[in-house]
Amino acid sequence: MPTDVRAESRRQFLRFLAESPLLYGMGGALAATRAFAQEDAALSGTYDFKGLIKSADDALNVWDFETAMRAKLDPGHVAYLAQGSDDLGTIAANRSGFKKIGLRARQLADIGNPDMSVELFGQRLNSPIFLCPVGAQKMFHDEGEIAVARAAQTKNSLQILSTVANSSVENVAAARGASGWLQLYSTSDWPTTQGMLKRAEDAGCTAVAWTIDIPSRNLELVGRFNPADDPTCQVCHSKFTGTFAMRPMFDGVNMSRVRMGLGGMTWSYVDQLKKGTKMKVLLKGIVTREDAALAIEHGADGVIVSNHGGRSTESLRGTIDCLPEVVEEVRGRIPVFMDSGIRRGTDVFKALALGATAVGIGRPYIWGLSSFGQAGVEKVIDLLSRELRIVMQQMGTAKLADISKSSLQAL
Ligand SMILES: Cc1cc2nc3c(=O)[nH]c(=O)nc-3n(C[C@H](O)[C@H](O)[C@H](O)COP(=O)(O)O)c2cc1C
Repeated sequence: MPTDVRAESRRQFLRFLAESPLLYGMGGALAATRAFAQEDAALSGTYDFKGLIKSADDALNVWDFETAMRAKLDPGHVAYLAQGSDDLGTIAANRSGFKKIGLRARQLADIGNPDMSVELFGQRLNSPIFLCPVGAQKMFHDEGEIAVARAAQTKNSLQILSTVANSSVENVAAARGASGWLQLYSTSDWPTTQGMLKRAEDAGCTAVAWTIDIPSRNLELVGRFNPADDPTCQVCHSKFTGTFAMRPMFDGVNMSRVRMGLGGMTWSYVDQLKKGTKMKVLLKGIVTREDAALAIEHGADGVIVSNHGGRSTESLRGTIDCLPEVVEEVRGRIPVFMDSGIRRGTDVFKALALGATAVGIGRPYIWGLSSFGQAGVEKVIDLLSRELRIVMQQMGTAKLADISKSSLQAL
């Protein structure tokens, strides 16, 4: 194995060790993993030598919020947020994929203030960085999705609300004061699904993103924590409150007769969704050219190249590696979005250069939310936008449409 590949693998291994919530509270092991984390972070240039940030404004990059989040959340929730499928190999691939792509800087291009704005289905947004659907955000902060909606409003960013959010689509839309999208987890009962679509439409959502990447999956980290062991967890995890009690998208629905998930669903469900809503219909979780072709055949208005942040198939394929074949198949007929592993402005730039119209972040804004609520989410958006602005200046690209593969080199 070449030395640089070995060093990168070691860094990733150290990082995962350091990130493992299982290692919390394990005395010597904890001290050792801290040292590992410092070495890893120092090598990758992300170590904050001053320690924990005290306010959102102190953050220099999104990783600062990751550290701050760990100090705020209890270990079970850290595990829920950090976890991925099987051995977390796809989470690693989401990051290492970006490191296989170099950037070809162009000098003396005199790019003063690059235009990062983008139009998505008629809505003009400040930047191509959107907030992915992440369920149950009151687990991370008391204001949950409402704080995120307010941040989306101040930064003019797109928020995609999860079906399993802790806040209703109506309240979130009111807090945001602008259109957003709904993410859909389909149910076995069409009237229930249709009811959610109708509520989203009435609340001003312009698009629905149907998540199709988890027919089933294997997540283990969070299984190490048993809420029954901790009485404070019982408030939310009690079997009496039930899974859907804190999920307002299911208010008024008798969930005892409704199953969640993709059981029995095939591509014809896309046709059904298209007929059942006025909103644009996107498919979230497309990672192959074959499925991109089927998405178009069935009338999808857009696709999101995503592996659920390494929480669906343990494919060992980063989404940045999946993006080119999808873009090639789509040939500009519908927009291609992408998420999973975006942590830097350079990552955003590379995805756009490979043909993405906009890119989503999941964990980074949740780190911000967990640490400092709305202010944390805003700062995460600011940091990534600032980094994107810098790389656009360095690449000589004055607007998003100028970004192309000519700035990239495979390493
Ligand atoms: C804690 C957590 C909860 C998530 N919940 C949902 C969800 O409810 N619906 C969905 O489509 N994707 C969900 N995702 C996946 C995100 O939408 C997104 O694809 C992923 O987080 C992007 O990767 P990143 O976290 O590396 O940025 C979740 C991800 C995390 C980390």
